[in-house]
Amino acid sequence: MNRYLALLLIALCPTALLAAATGAWLRRVPDEDHHRHDPYLGQSAAIASGRQLFQHNCTPCHGFDAMGRYGRPSLRSLRIRHATDGDLAWMLQHGDPFKGMPPWSSLPEQQRWQIIAYLRTLPPIGKPMPR
Ligand code: HEC
Repeated sequence: MNRYLALLLIALCPTALLAAATGAWLRRVPDEDHHRHDPYLGQSAAIASGRQLFQHNCTPCHGFDAMGRYGRPSLRSLRIRHATDGDLAWMLQHGDPFKGMPPWSSLPEQQRWQIIAYLRTLPPIGKPMPR
């Protein structure tokens, strides 16, 4: 292979891997979705259900500690902390299939809000997970 082509491929590779999680999906969330609130925030029974749902459905890609695995994004990042409940609900409903995030519209909406209520209890990156 041409030496310059090889160098170019090496230079582009990490960019391609990182391209998965830029938060570009946030710009696609319609206004009315963006402003929705999670009816289960702070409710311990709903949070416990959300935790189970998260462990069952989300950990293969986002990890038990929600820090993301194999290039999938952390759900304890500033981006997720700053996203509104409605942004997260929109993402769970629609996913971002072309970037490898499946839609979760097969889960009842109530369960998606429970997962979001659980995500809101996670500590920021660098702080220990609660037991
Ligand atoms: C098959 C792997 C996979 C599974 C399972 C999965 N995700 Fe994802 N998720 C991804 C990928 C890949 C992205 C990055 C997509 C993007 O940047 O547009 C992502 C992005 C996200 C984001 C946005 C993150 C950001 O920083 O922009 C949220 C929120 C999210 N996932 C929540 C969940 C939840 C909650 C579940 C379980 C119900 C779940 N995901 C299950 C692969 C997965």
